[in-house]
Amino acid sequence: MPHRKDEPLIIVSNRGPAEFERGPDGERRVRRGGGGLVTALTGLATHRKVLWVASAMGDEDVAVAEEAGGPVEIEMDDSSYEVDLVVSDPDAFDAFYSVIANPQLWFVQHYLWDLSNAPDIRREEKRAWEQGYEVVNEDIAREVLRQVEGRESPLVMFHDYHLYTAPGIVRRAVPHAFLHHFVHIPWPHPDAWRILPRVWREDLFDGLLSNDIIGFHTNAYVHNFLDCCRELVGAEVDYRNATVRWDGREIWAREYPLGIDAERLRRVADSEQVGEHEKQILARRREHLIIRVDRADLSKNVLRGFTAFDQFLTDHPEFLERVTFIAQLVPSRTDVPEYQEYLERIEAIVAVVNHRHGTTDWMPIDLRMYEDFHEAVARYKHYDLLMVNSLFDGMNLVAKEAPAVNTRDGVLMLSENTGAHEELGEYALSVNPFDIEEQAEAIHEALTMSADERRRRADGMRRIVDSTDPGGWVDRQLADIAAKQRGD
Ligand code: G6P
Repeated sequence: MPHRKDEPLIIVSNRGPAEFERGPDGERRVRRGGGGLVTALTGLATHRKVLWVASAMGDEDVAVAEEAGGPVEIEMDDSSYEVDLVVSDPDAFDAFYSVIANPQLWFVQHYLWDLSNAPDIRREEKRAWEQGYEVVNEDIAREVLRQVEGRESPLVMFHDYHLYTAPGIVRRAVPHAFLHHFVHIPWPHPDAWRILPRVWREDLFDGLLSNDIIGFHTNAYVHNFLDCCRELVGAEVDYRNATVRWDGREIWAREYPLGIDAERLRRVADSEQVGEHEKQILARRREHLIIRVDRADLSKNVLRGFTAFDQFLTDHPEFLERVTFIAQLVPSRTDVPEYQEYLERIEAIVAVVNHRHGTTDWMPIDLRMYEDFHEAVARYKHYDLLMVNSLFDGMNLVAKEAPAVNTRDGVLMLSENTGAHEELGEYALSVNPFDIEEQAEAIHEALTMSADERRRRADGMRRIVDSTDPGGWVDRQLADIAAKQRGD
């Protein structure tokens, strides 16, 4: 039975739109969640009526969930969201989040392991799978079941790698539900998955293949997924129609590249809060401004970006004191040791580069380690070069957001291993993220590019970015859901 339009969409993800916290005055307040998933789903939630089921992430989330005993309304950036926070046992959540989801799954899907050294999958990790990952997935699935109870045509949209096993639980309890899963990160080739114990892989594919449709950002990820279904689980795969037969059902794998809400972002860009930050940026800017804005994640390749800048300054001393590189990095997943160590390495390399090239009144790299969306948007408006050099990245929305509001025909340096590259590659300076020399040369090319060429590229990017939005992204998914329900 098709999904009824008057029923809210149930979207399910580990991180919700915002985290509750206590301000310095003791007041309860909300802090916007970071990362591409939240950007995508907050966009979606302003286009559709949704109920958003998510994990309670911190103590204040837990307090809110326990007080409310069900969905709460969150107001943020002039929109409101109905959010249902699910509380899990703290040890189970820690094992789920800090031992399995990040790093294991995230690292596998971004090819981050240095395989001769890691990962070591010991009893602790195996226990974390059973007593963490599976448990939190069960908690979330149980809440989803509570929400769909009595609905004629439940439609549930799961998101990302935290929730690979939850759909299996929902499928078994409500066989007629329509289950959809969107994976926001890369889907690697089969060998990458062979790192994980066979049992985990079986659980994970069994859960994922309990969905009706599985969405990815790019065609390459769809293809890799189909290869995995054939090679790792022995499912019957039809490459022409991108379908998998499993457990007597047909599952569709589909590509839905996510766009940004450029109009909404431009309204933010025109706001007073952004204006305040702009004044400071303009007062301090040198002739050229390079920026990057990322979560401080290993996949973002921050270290090689700074090394490339170092190389550029060595090769082109004529740019000394004429260029600043502002890196706004949001600390992320700091309970995972690899992430803590990464922050330390970032600080160390910045100190080296600044010491090597800096002068008494010029610091080549200006490192900002905090989250401030308005400040980031202010920088988006004034860069000459935006660096996006991720090792691997599902989509990378900064590569779309920043060109949408930039006022200087800024150039985009874009890693060829980002999902965004399938769409924007033609207008960006494409780089291999491991090739530091190429990145150093790309910096030079960007800062010496003719105004006409910059304009041509910036116009091309704006055209692409403006032609899609999160509303269209979800509409395409809903259209496929309707088609599959009709049996097309
Ligand atoms: C990426 C992932 C999301 C995740 C986000 C932030 O965008 O695809 O699922 O929520 O990073 O990471 P965090 O661990 O803070 O939720």
